[in-house]
Amino acid sequence: MTIAATQRFPGQAWDELPPVTLLETWPPAEPLPGVEVLLEAVVAVGPAELDLLPDLRLVANYGVGYDRVDVPACRERGVAVTNTPGVLDAAVADLTLALILVCRRHLLESDRFVREGRWQRGWARPELLGRDLAGSTLGLVGMGRIGSEVARRAAAFGMRIVHHRRSEGLPLDELLRTSDVVSLHVPLTPETAGLISRERLGVLRDGATLVNTARGAIVDEEALVEELVSGRISAGLDVFADEPRVPERLLDLPNVVLTPHIASATVETRAAMTRVLVDNVLAFLGGEPLPNEVSA
Ligand code: DGY
Repeated sequence: MTIAATQRFPGQAWDELPPVTLLETWPPAEPLPGVEVLLEAVVAVGPAELDLLPDLRLVANYGVGYDRVDVPACRERGVAVTNTPGVLDAAVADLTLALILVCRRHLLESDRFVREGRWQRGWARPELLGRDLAGSTLGLVGMGRIGSEVARRAAAFGMRIVHHRRSEGLPLDELLRTSDVVSLHVPLTPETAGLISRERLGVLRDGATLVNTARGAIVDEEALVEELVSGRISAGLDVFADEPRVPERLLDLPNVVLTPHIASATVETRAAMTRVLVDNVLAFLGGEPLPNEVSA
């Protein structure tokens, strides 16, 4: 039984695995017969990749989002897919609040203001005035585990919370029209790809902030770039449509904060994700039911 991984994942649980072959490239340069288990994070696993792993039986995805794994194609070939839900909600919610604060209080511009020696007079200056979180409206698109954690934190800041989810809450367009901050917490699926379209971006309030710690392709990225270039809205973006490519035009804008998909990137959370991934692999090796098998 060969276990292959696109990288080593942090945390002690990794040491409980049998020997793992680390792949130097993805997709592999040549077919890898004998590999039955693949451990991966954010790489595409579709028919072409599966052809290179003819004996594969399990894809253990490091992360809750498994949108880059073609689950139906895996199922057709008898390959199970697992993910790591439930252990990263707090870390992602923390980063979401951080992005909200950074955007609403102009922290990056303020930092630059000091470093560039532009702070010449006292503190009661008109530049860099932010907006209160207290009393402002946070619109959550998606209200699952992560959205709920964001809501809890935002309530502590005195924000008014509204949400939209498929079966309840505010209609999406009304949420977008009436929120000061909109934060996305839905998985990327065929239904949510492009959900925040050009038209929907257009209904955001002047001065609104869009935060995305979910997946870049949920938003029409080209249209978002145009809105940000116009300066009408601000954004905190941890995810992008074609990572690690970040639209060039965003790089010099003061009204957008860019982070490299770090929402779950804490020592504790990443170790907990490894724990869940390893538990799934050990269950597979022991012929037991997989704790986190995904179905579609
Ligand atoms: C996930 O788990 O899908 C996240 O995007 C990782 O931060």
